[in-house]
Amino acid sequence: MSVQSREAKLRAIQGEVEPLHEINVPKLDPYDLMPQRESNRLRALSLFSGGGGLDLGFDRAGFSHVASYEILGHAAETLKRARPNWVVNGNQDGDVTSAKWTSLSGEVDIVHGGPPCQPFSIAGRQKGADDTRDMWPELVRCIRAVKPRAFVAENVPALASKKFAPYVQSQIIDMLSYRYHIKMLMLRAEDFGVPQIRRRVVFVGFARKKDAVRFVPPAATHRWGDSQLEFTENLERCMGAREALGLPDIGFDALSPTIRSSLTGPRHTTSILNSVAAQRTFEALQIWPNGVAATREKARAYVANNGHFRLSVQDVAVLQGFPEDWPFDGATYMQLGQLGNAVPPPMGYAVASSVAAAFEA
Ligand SMILES: C[S@@+](CC[C@H](N)C(=O)[O-])C[C@H]1O[C@@H](n2cnc3c(N)ncnc32)[C@H](O)[C@@H]1O
Repeated sequence: MSVQSREAKLRAIQGEVEPLHEINVPKLDPYDLMPQRESNRLRALSLFSGGGGLDLGFDRAGFSHVASYEILGHAAETLKRARPNWVVNGNQDGDVTSAKWTSLSGEVDIVHGGPPCQPFSIAGRQKGADDTRDMWPELVRCIRAVKPRAFVAENVPALASKKFAPYVQSQIIDMLSYRYHIKMLMLRAEDFGVPQIRRRVVFVGFARKKDAVRFVPPAATHRWGDSQLEFTENLERCMGAREALGLPDIGFDALSPTIRSSLTGPRHTTSILNSVAAQRTFEALQIWPNGVAATREKARAYVANNGHFRLSVQDVAVLQGFPEDWPFDGATYMQLGQLGNAVPPPMGYAVASSVAAAFEA
């Protein structure tokens, strides 16, 4: 198959195949989902920053970043390119395991981060604390040393499952509740206008009880299709994947299936496909989820065998709630890996805005 697809790609590059689709102009601008708020003068420290999903959400919510830490060079480079004035520690100096946090004690209002999810993800072996990639103890070490007014920590929904309840209790709650009042939230991307099925568990902790009492979890701003959410006039309609990407109406639309993290698999891939069920949805959407192209022009030229719309990195960014000008660094699989690992920025924005409101009230 890979020989066939290489040959097809070559034919496309040589202009032998007539493109089937116009270059799309997305209807959704993710910036509209997170209007820039004025500075709230709150200082954030970001761990496990990746390509900057959570960082961008906090930034748009009015926080400033004291520093960001990310061990993966390409991901750190993305954030440096996007925010040249920030202190972004990449590669080994971005390694949180060797960071000394004490100099930041009292200098930070909020620590935020999403430790790697592989130890808990249902796509992995779910070894939890026995997985050497488990970085929760490092996040806890940082919070205990820096003593921020609040922290926000996110992960895959599997962390909230019964299987990991003892882990959550012993490694997160017991380690931090000496100082923090902690709440656990389950958030859905579509509730914030992101056209993708994506759930995230988020822990929010406040040092002061009155901040914790004032904290109101982010309410949905959008509503998709048959959502069980109570409808109110304040909720906007969440676009489906086709509409968000500006594709022609085919009489069917749906949220994009969860975009896989392509850095976690055994090989480098440019597929965003996560499951067999996801494949069925993409087929119905007439979107081809494999061989994502580096640009829209290349996606158009490289016609998929079944004639379905081929995605570009910029399209996947829109489906993940990233503005399409976010300057992802590295080869296509690496850019997709940063995207697949990320918190949709509008979800991060919603949490960050709620935390700031609890401080302000
Ligand atoms: C789930 S991703 C975080 C995504 C990010 N929150 C976002 O919204 O874009 C976890 C990140 O932790 C990084 N990481 C893993 N081990 C690390 C370490 N020891 N120090 C710093 N970063 C690390 C990975 O490279 C990966 O980018």
